Amino acid sequence: MKKVQIINGPNLNMLGKREPEIYGYLTLDEINAKLVERSELLDLELFFFQSNHEGAIADKVHEDFNENFDGIIINPGALTHTSVVLRDALAMMSCPMVEIHLSNVYKREAFRHKSMLADIVTGRITGFGHYGYEMALNAIANMINES
Ligand code: DQA
Repeated sequence: MKKVQIINGPNLNMLGKREPEIYGYLTLDEINAKLVERSELLDLELFFFQSNHEGAIADKVHEDFNENFDGIIINPGALTHTSVVLRDALAMMSCPMVEIHLSNVYKREAFRHKSMLADIVTGRITGFGHYGYEMALNAIANMINES
């Protein structure tokens, strides 16, 4: 079965409680449960990782590289806007990668308009709340099937 890694960065463990008017009322576990349901229809095996630590996320990407993962969906949280570490780690991967944001970062503060990952990921989804994760999974499934 094809393996897809779902990575969530800093503060996303607080979803549901964290500024729900911006990020929604679903917890990360609830979002992940929806993805598992969807993955069964798409015949994909999902692996979940969340960390508040940049280096821990880089370590996970290295594992995914060594284990030849078939796709990555990442919401890097604030690391989106700052992290050369994450950019360099993800740049090693050759599988489809989707950067996803719950909020529409372009409707928010100017510092959120910049992504360190924008030009190394396959594509980006921003502003569709938790639906963005499912959109990303569908896109990755299609890309894997066509490759
Ligand atoms: C976010 C947007 C980021 O700017 C922010 O730092 C987050 C969440 C989003 O999902 O909308 O932590 O990635």
